[in-house]
Amino acid sequence: MIDLQSILQDIYTEATKTQDKGVVASYIPELANVDINKFGVHLRTCEGTEYGIGDYNEKFSIQSISKVLALTKAISFKGNEVWARVDVEPSGNPFNFLSLLELENGIPRNPLINAGALVISDILISHFENPKEDFINFIRALTLDDSINYNEQVAHSEKITGYRNYAAANLLKSFNNLHNEVEDVLDFYFHQCSIEMNCSQLSKAFYLFANKGKCLQNKTHITESQTKRINALMLTCGFYDEAGEFAFTVGLPGKSGVGGGIVALLPNKFIITTWSPGLNKKGNSKLGMLALEQFTTKTELSIF
Ligand code: DON
Repeated sequence: MIDLQSILQDIYTEATKTQDKGVVASYIPELANVDINKFGVHLRTCEGTEYGIGDYNEKFSIQSISKVLALTKAISFKGNEVWARVDVEPSGNPFNFLSLLELENGIPRNPLINAGALVISDILISHFENPKEDFINFIRALTLDDSINYNEQVAHSEKITGYRNYAAANLLKSFNNLHNEVEDVLDFYFHQCSIEMNCSQLSKAFYLFANKGKCLQNKTHITESQTKRINALMLTCGFYDEAGEFAFTVGLPGKSGVGGGIVALLPNKFIITTWSPGLNKKGNSKLGMLALEQFTTKTELSIF
């Protein structure tokens, strides 16, 4: 029997000694205020046992981690129609890279880069009656937690500096791959990125990807096959131009955000969430990557 709590403790002790913790994202000014020394890890098994260490109960900006949840919602009612508007190939480029979008006629490489997530936002706002309210309620239902909310300051901060996202949305619109107004799509997208959750809430929200599409309330949101596909996208595209590195060193499907969070999972076994706001050059949490590499190495638990 593996002693998961003591493994997390060892990883935590080791990781917090690291001198170079990376750099907190500053291109969204509001994120630059976060204390770089925050560090939390939380693991939830599919049986419901939980392990936590450090700041795992402190909320942070989930940013791009929200893209997986938005995609899940879009697939749950659009099914395969989603793939006519966004591809499923790794981009090998940063999350906000624009050139491929022009070259590939407005079809984003995958739904986890910014351009792809904007198409998914467009699908969601066409579908929902009250997009922002309905989306946050979906996340609250997944986590059984009504305290989860948007951070208006973060959403606003991103809006006033969101030049590359405006560029991507306008390019998508010029290729007729946005059906709603650019401003409305961006407003929804900036809000979904601004959602604040802690590690323990994220482990709950991602339970359905380890549980064949069923959430904690045993409700089926997506089919087993759709769950497999979303996990495949996390593995191949969840870390942008570092997806290969994450598969190579960690070996789990996962998703990062520039708020410093990472969620990863082993189907039918567990969900693990890390938060350390310092990022590496590819925009992924430096200590989070390190901790997850240590975790799968020490436990020998990975998909490979
Ligand atoms: O659109 C952006 O740039 C941010 N709201 C999200 C980027 C992000 O989290 C990339 N992940 N590592």
